[in-house]
Amino acid sequence: MAREFTSVGVVGLGTMGAGIVEVFARNGIDVVAVEISAGALERGRATLTGSTDRAVAKGKLAEADRDALLARVDWQVGLDALHSVDLVIEAVPEHLDLKQRIFAELDRVCKPEAILATNTSSLSVTEISVATTRPNQVIGIHFFNPAPVMKLVEVVRTVVTSADVVADVEALCERLGKVDVTISDRAGFIANALLFGYLNHAVGMFESRYATREDIDAAMKLGCGLPMGPLALMDLIGLDTAYEILDTMYRRGGRDRRHAPVPLIKQMVTAGLLGRKSGRGFYTYERPGSPVVVPDEHTPVSTGAALADGARAIAKVGVVGSGTMATGIIEVFAKAGYEVISVTRGAEKSAKVCEAVKTSLNKGVVRGKLSEEGRDAALGRVTWSATLDHLADVDLVVEAVVEELSVKKALFASLDEICKPGVVLATTTSSLPVIDVAMATQRPADVIGLHFFNPAPIMPLVEIVQTIRTSAETAATARAVCAGLGKTGVVCGDRSGFIVNALLFPYLNDAVKMLEASYSTADDIDYAMKLGCGYPMGPFELLDVVGLDVSLAIQRELYLELREPGFAPAPLLEHLVTAGYLGRKSGRGFRDHTKR
Ligand SMILES: NC(=O)c1ccc[n+]([C@@H]2O[C@H](COP(=O)([O-])OP(=O)(O)OC[C@H]3O[C@@H](n4cnc5c(N)ncnc54)[C@H](O)[C@@H]3O)[C@@H](O)[C@H]2O)c1
Repeated sequence: MAREFTSVGVVGLGTMGAGIVEVFARNGIDVVAVEISAGALERGRATLTGSTDRAVAKGKLAEADRDALLARVDWQVGLDALHSVDLVIEAVPEHLDLKQRIFAELDRVCKPEAILATNTSSLSVTEISVATTRPNQVIGIHFFNPAPVMKLVEVVRTVVTSADVVADVEALCERLGKVDVTISDRAGFIANALLFGYLNHAVGMFESRYATREDIDAAMKLGCGLPMGPLALMDLIGLDTAYEILDTMYRRGGRDRRHAPVPLIKQMVTAGLLGRKSGRGFYTYERPGSPVVVPDEHTPVSTGAALADGARAIAKVGVVGSGTMATGIIEVFAKAGYEVISVTRGAEKSAKVCEAVKTSLNKGVVRGKLSEEGRDAALGRVTWSATLDHLADVDLVVEAVVEELSVKKALFASLDEICKPGVVLATTTSSLPVIDVAMATQRPADVIGLHFFNPAPIMPLVEIVQTIRTSAETAATARAVCAGLGKTGVVCGDRSGFIVNALLFPYLNDAVKMLEASYSTADDIDYAMKLGCGYPMGPFELLDVVGLDVSLAIQRELYLELREPGFAPAPLLEHLVTAGYLGRKSGRGFRDHTKR
């Protein structure tokens, strides 16, 4: 018969524990909340009252329900208070010896039939379980941060966990309104195994001053639709916890260098910069525990004047190319009031691009986002041409031709001959080194990358790629142009993948490797990232949309340039591409789209 869970214990009321208490108490289950000291207990209680008070203020919880919720919690110092609970969830710091000690103690204190669960993110549940005399009743119940909000729970069964314990915990998760994925005991389970390499890589970018904290975070939020950027997420997780998770994953997960904690993390932990909980991490917060970021000495000045400092005036823009990106970019500039000269390789192509821009602008009118006058004015600003010579007096050229270095280099050499001095020459390449096209001209200081995202009229992000020869004036001009387009421009160096692709594709590749290793299913991995981390799409959904061939090409570039063994393309990805399973566009990728 299935177990009844009427009373549960939570040990450790920090970032996770306090939230877990709330999850149970909200669902009518009595909780014994345990901490190591009266002070820590008080902090845990304050977290819960703060969270429930906010829910009341937002109208999400009635006052009477809040009072009933709080009345269900019994606050106690010391594990002895847990003698009669049906289940304990441990959420103390991520140290194996500490957890083992606590489990040995829980085994002694708790009634024989009680289930003992750990909320560990990366430690071996099996190793924790053997500290007790009931390893078959030990299980991982991994909640996500913030626990009351995130829908996912990873249920981790070890080789000795009883099937009935797994089934009862799964039923409990359902009762809590959570979606569970049940998996075996591997470092990082699903979500963290895919998340932490990415987070560590982002910290590495920040540490090497490849881009600023604001730009790294904005790039991932705006370029991928993530709920928060990686550095803000590190602050939410807690840098001490993140350090321990990375360190454990490095040791348990095959010593993948991508999990070796970036040295800056340890330095920040030592300096007490733990993230939100200590009031300062990558960002500075109003006070410890507050989610409100306040300006500090690293906060950039983002006024228009500062953005335009040193920028050249841009009125007339040439856009070269006739594909999806060129079409979108023409529309973006024309709508923003720039005079645009579109150059394609022939009148027929120009007519097609013109038609595509019209169709897109008309959609804007139908959706009420653009007036008819606005559409006509935008179209009136575009001149259609098939000759590069018409770019002689533009202030900025945006190149969006085929992604082939020889073609781009030849084009830049021509632009160098045709364009007036002082023009800014921009390439939209997403994978080629910008310096290569810059050196095809005699004026590399004027060359920069402007990496728009598809569809350009909708995506708010542009990566501004500075080479080692790009002048400050050119960079300032690019920033001012992005601001003029109403886009967020993030500045980064000229490395493969820039910010977004360098952080995104290795994660997608890791998901493929996880599937290939049969650790979990595509559906569960997609759920884990969507419900555990708030991603708008799971990795396999996204791969099918982006195209497996495109993803493989980007991953290969990253691997070739950075020589990171962990970036080697997943063999399964290669095989699917070889087999012609390219994603939605071919009807089949990781999923069969012909049946939907
Ligand atoms: N932070 C996250 O985003 C996150 C997400 C999922 C899982 N986890 C996991 O949850 C666990 C807790 O992490 P956290 O971020 O909440 O840590 P935390 O440092 O915020 O909180 C840990 C709490 O445990 C208490 N504690 C320490 N020793 C204790 C003892 N002997 N008895 C009772 N309480 C004790 C501490 O006083 C502290 O309040 C870790 O295993 C972590 O990997 C964390």
